[in-house]
Amino acid sequence: MYTLKNERIEQEVMICRCEEVTEQEIRAAIRAGARTIDAVKRLTRAGMGLCQGRTCTSLVASLIREEMRVPLEEILPPKKRLPIRPLEISLLVQQDVEE
Ligand code: FES
Repeated sequence: MYTLKNERIEQEVMICRCEEVTEQEIRAAIRAGARTIDAVKRLTRAGMGLCQGRTCTSLVASLIREEMRVPLEEILPPKKRLPIRPLEISLLVQQDVEE
């Protein structure tokens, strides 16, 4: 948000709604040394919520790009974790073929 004099007003912008992590907290984590999405996740919990980062991961990547001044392509995607319990492979594979 900007004032009439075009000065940026610091405000709390929610980046990760699931874990209630703000832009300021993520920028602080990056400035403290978190250089990857996973590192930001470990420091702030952004991406650990119910949606598992579907909403906030791209926003976190954008903030890392801004803070570190690197192209988005250089930011590694977050690591995928395997399910805790054994699952049938058919549950994981998208079924595009009509039966
Ligand atoms: S918005 Fe971040 S985990 Fe859902």
